[in-house]
This record gives sequence, C-alpha cells and structure tokens, in this order.
Amino acid sequence: MKIGIFDSGVGGLIITKTIRELMPEYDYVYLGDTKRVPYGDKSHDTILKFTKEAMNYFFQKENCAIVIIACNTVSARALKKIQQEYSSKKLKDRKVLGVLIPTAEIAVDYKKIGILATLGTVNSNTFLKEIKKLNDNVTVFQNPAPMLVPLIEEGVNLKLIKPILLEYLNPLLKKNIDTLILGCTHYPILKKEIKKIMGKNIEIISQDEIIPKKLKEYLKIHPEINKKISKKRSIKISVTDYTPNVNRLVKKWFSASQKVHLVNL
Ligand code: DGL
Repeated sequence: MKIGIFDSGVGGLIITKTIRELMPEYDYVYLGDTKRVPYGDKSHDTILKFTKEAMNYFFQKENCAIVIIACNTVSARALKKIQQEYSSKKLKDRKVLGVLIPTAEIAVDYKKIGILATLGTVNSNTFLKEIKKLNDNVTVFQNPAPMLVPLIEEGVNLKLIKPILLEYLNPLLKKNIDTLILGCTHYPILKKEIKKIMGKNIEIISQDEIIPKKLKEYLKIHPEINKKISKKRSIKISVTDYTPNVNRLVKKWFSASQKVHLVNL
C-alpha cells in the first residue's frame, strides 16, 4: 500500500519532494487536479465533490493506506466530511490527514499570527478556529491572496511578483505580526520573495518544512498504518491535465526521467 498526497495543482509537489527527502523509503502517489485548479474560489459542494473523486482514485485505484490532503483549501473546507465518510465509514482501516492542525500546532508558539491563504481558506475561518482551540491568547490576522495560485500554476515570473505580494502582505505587516503562516501549498514556491518583504524579525511557517516531520511522527505513533505501507522508494506523479508547468516542476524537483501520468477524474 502507498502514501497518497493530494493537491489542487502543482503546489503539493513541493511538499511531496520534502516528504520524500525525509522518508525516501516509502512508496508514494501524488495527484494534482491541474484541470480544475484553482480550488480557492470554488463552492463548498464543488470542493467536496472534487475531493471525493480524488479519494476514490487514491483508495480504489492506488490502494493507499493513508492520504495527506496537502491542499489547505480542501483541508479547511472538506477534511472533516471526507474523514467521516472514508476513515470512519467506507474504509475504516484507511486514514486521511490534513495540513491545518499540524501547522496550527507550530504557530501557537507565537503571539501575533498572520495567515496568507486562499479566499476559501480565509472565509472558512478553519485556521483561526484550530489555532484558538490550541491557544486562545494569540491574536490572528488573515488575508486572502486570490491571485497567487493561478500565477504559480502558470509558472510565475518571480521578478514581477513583488508588487502583488506587497498588496497582500502589507495589511499583515501593518498589524505587527510576529509570524506568518504560508497557508496554501503553492506559497512555499514564493518563500524567498515573501521572506524578503517580511524581514528578519517575522518567522515564516512553511508547510514544506513542517509537514514531513509531522508525518514522520504520525507514522511512528501509528505502527499499524506504518507497517501496511510498502517500502520500495517509488513515486508516481499523476495530474488531471498536462500543463507546461507540471513538466517543468517535476523535472526540477524530481528527475528528468520522472513520468507524469494523466488521470481522468
Ligand atoms: N493548494 C491549494 C491550497 O493549499 C491552492 C488552492 C487553490 O487551488 O486555489 O489552498
């Protein structure tokens, strides 16, 4: 059985890369819904429908033991329903994990937390609720950045991104935050540019750095899942549409000979 990693597009590839760097021994399958990205402005019902189709792919076609929903928008808006439907009803022995709670666990070490995320994630207030559950004494500011995901999917020119980032980050800078959560799988691609704007005194919480460690801890305390996952060091990368940026990033982050499979959801 494999570890599945799901994202709305190419963003989750960066988390897949860092997860594999930490735990190369497992077999992985990645699915990016490049045909239907962005998810950030989609309705709740549409996100749930797309995610169910993806889960059926992971569990029925790829025989995954565990699926990481790397997409924050899906984690924020559909994770609970998906967990109820899959892990507790249809497939009791399989697990679906999101990325918001592990991120919130890191963020609560700070006092004034800024969150940059998609419109769907911000409007759901899920990040805010999860952080407050862990520590009610922190202050949280959120700002949506709706233009970033489409630009990253297109293969953004990093030289042109600064004014757009300033537009989204200035409202958070004005709040004197001490940490910024990059609350979307796509944003670590812009980490360097974001860090330059935020300066040295603001900690940047980036999921490509924290999710691999959290997954490792999870597998350690769940040997019943760990032992089911095959360990042949393989990676299958699937997308719902071939886009030029998919090939470019797969070559850059994996290998020039890495195949990309087309999946029809
Ligand atoms: N990867 C998604 C996230 O983390 C981007 C959402 C989108 O497709 O708009 O929120």
